[in-house]
Amino acid sequence: MTGKRTATSDLWWKNAVIYCLDVQTFFDTDGDGCGDLVGLTEKIDYLAGLGVTCLWLMPCYPSPERDDGYDISDFYAVDEKLGNLGDFAEMLRTAHDRGIRVIIDLVVNHTSHLHKWFQSARKGRDAPYHDYYVWADEKPENEAKLVFPGEETSNWAWDDQAERWYFHRFYSEQPDLNTANPAVRDEIAKIGAFWLALGVTGYRIDAVPFLLEEVSGVAADGKDPHALLRELGTYLTRRRGDAVLLGEVNLPYDKGIEFFGEYGDELNMMFDFRLNQSMFLALARRDVAPLVKTLKELPEIAPECQWTNFVRNHDELTLDQLGDAEREEVFAAFGPEEDMQVYGRGLRRRLPSMLDGDDRRVRLVYSLMFSLPGTPALFYGEEIGMVENLDVEGRLSSRTPMQWSDGPHAGFSSAPEGARLCRPLPEDHAANVADQRRDPHSLLNWMERLIRQRKECPEFGWGKLELLHTKGAVLVHRCVWDGTAVVAVHNLGDEPATVTLPKDCTEFRDLFGDDDAEPGEKITVEAYGFRWFRAGGHH
Ligand code: NOJ
Repeated sequence: MTGKRTATSDLWWKNAVIYCLDVQTFFDTDGDGCGDLVGLTEKIDYLAGLGVTCLWLMPCYPSPERDDGYDISDFYAVDEKLGNLGDFAEMLRTAHDRGIRVIIDLVVNHTSHLHKWFQSARKGRDAPYHDYYVWADEKPENEAKLVFPGEETSNWAWDDQAERWYFHRFYSEQPDLNTANPAVRDEIAKIGAFWLALGVTGYRIDAVPFLLEEVSGVAADGKDPHALLRELGTYLTRRRGDAVLLGEVNLPYDKGIEFFGEYGDELNMMFDFRLNQSMFLALARRDVAPLVKTLKELPEIAPECQWTNFVRNHDELTLDQLGDAEREEVFAAFGPEEDMQVYGRGLRRRLPSMLDGDDRRVRLVYSLMFSLPGTPALFYGEEIGMVENLDVEGRLSSRTPMQWSDGPHAGFSSAPEGARLCRPLPEDHAANVADQRRDPHSLLNWMERLIRQRKECPEFGWGKLELLHTKGAVLVHRCVWDGTAVVAVHNLGDEPATVTLPKDCTEFRDLFGDDDAEPGEKITVEAYGFRWFRAGGHH
């Protein structure tokens, strides 16, 4: 069924508003300085009010926290400092009641070294779980690319007990699972089915290309690596029809596109890292050219699939798909100091500090991201313009506690004043929810309107993209879907600009104010300004 009405609710991920958070840093109710599931449950109404339709929870599983929870020691439990499975179920029930779906991180490229599978595997090559991991007797000479340069020096680590080398794509405390082993694939399917049974609507799948890759020197079963995703997708949608798989695939389009599958039968969604990086280059240059180039290259995808757009996520703002000189331009514009950069490829700042706190420009960026083809995803705190804390190590700089008020601990925790939080707040933590609620012009209230408006413009998620003005600082694009159209105008420049609207429709209804325009009218867009119109009479 492809009828417009059916489509908007059936393939819900085509037009969701995703909000990513870490329970640990969201809201602490028991005063231990660490956020918890009860806290998140209390804040579901806040998220519903903002207009979020899908929560993406960063890992909540038990973990020794070498990689902020992305090193999991038990896939079937909740980290006790966050609460228990009962609290998780209550949180889910509350979210569903308010019309919010919940997806969680599925991190199965690797486990923690403390996971019982690895502890067993280490006992030797005959141990029952030995083949769950990737081993070599001699350290292989051909190193795969290091993900954490400067922190790790090799992808192979020696294990004293097994007396063999094991492969790890990330930290050495994160041994890679051997996904060519059918028993491992069965375990992955079982984990996927478990949390669906509890009520999640799908997964953000971590490190997808690494999950599928076959490590050289290791006996693979000869199967097409993509079979893993296809089989997992089919299995999980049998369990729950609306289950979604949103993959982390940071690859150029020609390679990344494969992960949607030939018929859209692998991932349903993928983050568009390429578009994100081009957007930052365009912002740095105040010139839409890099963005336009990428939009022209944006591959066609099956109607069941969708891109996920974002400004910032929990990791560094990676600029690894840009050329060296381009990356340097973005560094120079948005993070010139060494301490703001990480791994030689990214920035560990949040948006408002990159833009020197220029509120006009901050709004411009979110307006742009929300109007690009795909589904928008926010990272907690973006709605109030939170900044990072560079004193916190590495990528954790932008994962500081949510700022709820101007009270002690920014209202994040009921811990006594002066107590240590799971992560220190930034020195500048003035931005907070309570103050912004009371200010009709705040970023928070504006973001709420942006989200409302985006939901009423499904064309951005479903429609065909037309690039109408692509020169200098101004981008005008239109998304047309089944006879209706929306037009967005963005001025990346620091000077007002004029642009002529197209003539092939009957009216332009202003979606954020009452300044309607005529077909063919020359309009002026302020410095860092933006406009959204509903174009009437479009066929
Ligand atoms: C990608 C996650 O986004 C990142 O935070 C993590 O370190 C790696 N995958 C390893 O799980």
